[in-house]
Amino acid sequence: MNVKDALLKTLAGSGEEYISGAALAEKLGVSRNAVWKAVKSLEGEGYVIESVAARGYRLSAQSNRLSAELISSRLNTVSLGRNIEVYDVIDSTNNAAKERAAAGAPHGTVIAADRQTMGRGRLGRTFVSPSGTGIYMSVLVRPDLSLEDSGLITSTAAVAAAEAVESLCGQDVCIKWVNDLYINGKKICGILTEASLGLEMKSLDHAVIGIGINVRSIRKCFDSELSAIASSIEDETGCQLDRSQLCAAVLDRLEYWLGRISTREFLPEYRRREILTGNAITASIGGKQVTGKALGIDDNANLIMELPGGEVRHLGSGEANLCRII
Ligand code: BTN
Repeated sequence: MNVKDALLKTLAGSGEEYISGAALAEKLGVSRNAVWKAVKSLEGEGYVIESVAARGYRLSAQSNRLSAELISSRLNTVSLGRNIEVYDVIDSTNNAAKERAAAGAPHGTVIAADRQTMGRGRLGRTFVSPSGTGIYMSVLVRPDLSLEDSGLITSTAAVAAAEAVESLCGQDVCIKWVNDLYINGKKICGILTEASLGLEMKSLDHAVIGIGINVRSIRKCFDSELSAIASSIEDETGCQLDRSQLCAAVLDRLEYWLGRISTREFLPEYRRREILTGNAITASIGGKQVTGKALGIDDNANLIMELPGGEVRHLGSGEANLCRII
């Protein structure tokens, strides 16, 4: 590891503590001048390093950098994120994670990026992924799950992401079935899970959970059409979250819930945040737009919908939208 990377790892690991130039030089086995040069080099990459006479250096929370070192220094997981690649720019982290999966990458491998040039959303949509604002990450999981339980992965990821955001900015986050997170009626996060079945098609081989969170202000990046429906945590709450810290928090919560998926203990957490329940909605059923009422979420995280004639359907996928609040 070069001096710059070793310095970043050390500063990331020491949190809010200052470390003197002399202590850093000794720990890294280099001269104080080499430490100073590495500090300047990190600053050139956008890291904000606070330096106080007689105390030393520390990494500022204002850095707003997504980096493997910063994410790793905050992680409390056993497997998720322990093998992590972070890119400045990539086409789609889901594409990269699927390639790693095909090459045999282990459970928990994470691909994250500061910017995506071809971010993909559900139903063939684009996920706008500008630099410096969001978390775009894909988590490769190889859990031992039945097909029925595999269908719950996306919903656990929605709960994990909601809890992570709430824990760091103290604001309530809503879930819109099946996998969108909302604050103040605006979408701040989307999840695209792509699963691959085993040879006998009876169980899951692996899944790639792609999570996109708009963290810092996106007002300058989104056009008016997109701004009407989507926003960011900062634009809605004023919280300027550290993206690496949020990334680690999502992985912590995701590992917690994935390990308990079969118990369905996450469902109360999903249901209490879900915003369609109890309201008039439109949903696509058999290619047709149907209006009805959302009655709730069943034990397989399907949306229970009452059609105008009184028939009740359990929707497993697709999209539903709020018509009006009853
Ligand atoms: C949606 O809202 O329709 C789902 C959006 C999912 C976006 C994430 S960003 C990381 C990962 N890579 C992608 O190309 N898509 C997912």
